[in-house]
Amino acid sequence: MYADIASGGELYTALKGGLPPERVVFHGNNKSEAELRYAIENNIHRIIADCVEELERISRIAAELGTEASVSLRLSPSVTDNTIHTAVQTGKLDSKFGIPIETGAALEAVKLALSLDGIRLAGIHCHLGSPIYDAGIYVNGADVMLRFAARIQKDLHYTLEELILGGGYAVRYLPDQTVPSIPDYIKAISEGVQASAKKHGLPLPELVLEPGRSIVAETGITVYTVGSIKNIPGVRTYVAVDGGMADNPRYMLYGSQYDITLPERAAEEKTQLITLAGRCCECELLGKDMYIQPVKAGDLLAVLCTGAYNYSMASHYNRIPKPPVVMVRGGEDFVAVNRERWEDLAAFDV
Ligand SMILES: Cc1ncc(COP(=O)(O)O)c(C=O)c1O
Repeated sequence: MYADIASGGELYTALKGGLPPERVVFHGNNKSEAELRYAIENNIHRIIADCVEELERISRIAAELGTEASVSLRLSPSVTDNTIHTAVQTGKLDSKFGIPIETGAALEAVKLALSLDGIRLAGIHCHLGSPIYDAGIYVNGADVMLRFAARIQKDLHYTLEELILGGGYAVRYLPDQTVPSIPDYIKAISEGVQASAKKHGLPLPELVLEPGRSIVAETGITVYTVGSIKNIPGVRTYVAVDGGMADNPRYMLYGSQYDITLPERAAEEKTQLITLAGRCCECELLGKDMYIQPVKAGDLLAVLCTGAYNYSMASHYNRIPKPPVVMVRGGEDFVAVNRERWEDLAAFDV
């Protein structure tokens, strides 16, 4: 396994956590000079260049440092599907990510990458969006990428070594969702890649997948305490907890759905229809029209499947300190990240 990072801070954290730099892949659509320099100095496994400016920047820094960076090009394959939320359709033409294949820009970028000093072109990359419930979308993406690989082989005599097809493997946010298993995805994708490579007359590239949230999402649970309950007869019942968009902005960003339960009465039937509100000074919610066991102020309330894109997306909005992270290993729990205090919030104020 390798680790994908998307900023200098994530690189710092990965290295500090003991991950060898040769296991790190650097993503992002606008990496800074300082971040690229830090990555190249540490000789990380791969930098995924998102645009021509980045290629030029990497080339200059690597040349200055007298080294060569191993680079893959993020391409925009114009592949999407309306089962992916519009806010996370990252493989379409109209996206901030990647160099478009459709406009001819990708071909020019490969030509440039092959000509620049300090760059070793390792392959091409795309990420289509997330979550993707239909593995067939990856097969379409792979075919576009391999058709492009055939074009660069013919025009530029460059044989593709590595194809990265991104992440987006779905997880079970709701109990009635059916989600392909990782082996299902791998089978569909690898068969698609083999068929496309054959169709386009290419040797099989090494295939890299970026499993992202599917590794950790289902391992995480956010536990809140219920504070106030506001029942508006004939309208709805708002149950407010001691968190909200500051620790989980995903409902507000893209209407993400979650399953909830009262951990202390989890075996009881969920008979009460509620809307789960946060405590921030916005009309923010954690979810609408959700069933839960009969709930009262003071109850613990758990939101399930919050192991990915929750703590990492948390902010200090309304100066709410971030909650602690408690992990469980071999039946023993331990604090992995401390609870923040009000003093911590003021620590950088001058
Ligand atoms: C380039 C890239 N790869 C993989 C992922 C992982 O996606 P997910 O965690 O939704 O599977 C992301 C998520 O932002 C990404 O930007």
